[in-house]
Amino acid sequence: MFFNKSLLTVIATAAAFVGSASAFTGTATKGFTAETSNCGCPPFNGPLGISIPVELIGSHRCCQDSITISYNGKTVPAVFSGNYTGGAGTQNIELTDFAFGVLEDNDSQTTLSPVTWSFNV
Ligand SMILES: *[C@@H]1O[C@H](CO)[C@@H](O)[C@H](O)[C@H]1NC(C)=O
Ligand SMILES: *[C@@H]1O[C@H](CO)[C@@H](O)[C@H](O)[C@H]1NC(C)=O
Repeated sequence: MFFNKSLLTVIATAAAFVGSASAFTGTATKGFTAETSNCGCPPFNGPLGISIPVELIGSHRCCQDSITISYNGKTVPAVFSGNYTGGAGTQNIELTDFAFGVLEDNDSQTTLSPVTWSFNV
């Protein structure tokens, strides 16, 4: 019994680690600037888009995979739509105006911090 319980604890701890390892925290900029290499996703992807640092892309596919972003108690899903070259070495992101607008506290904001974000797959 002791062994089994310990094993379960190890598994639960490992699962929690995987979960936390895939969440990132940074600053979100309003709109895709010249520092984003836009993937040019098709219109049917909709207005909710996010651009992320290249080194955090992993095996995720632009215009296909979705990311959930949270700021100050608000959450929005967005399609991975660009490579944020300006965010190299950080966990910072850029959001389309529409996605930014869902998260902002008011329209005087041009950046949001801290935002947390993670891939949904
Ligand atoms: C984004 O970065 C990935 C990984 O380096 C690359 O395969 C892809 O071509 C880049 N896309 C754009 C639009 O820059
Ligand atoms: C807008 O929101 C920011 C961040 O919550 C806050 O600091 C600022 O005072 C707000 N401005 C207005 C005009 O409400």
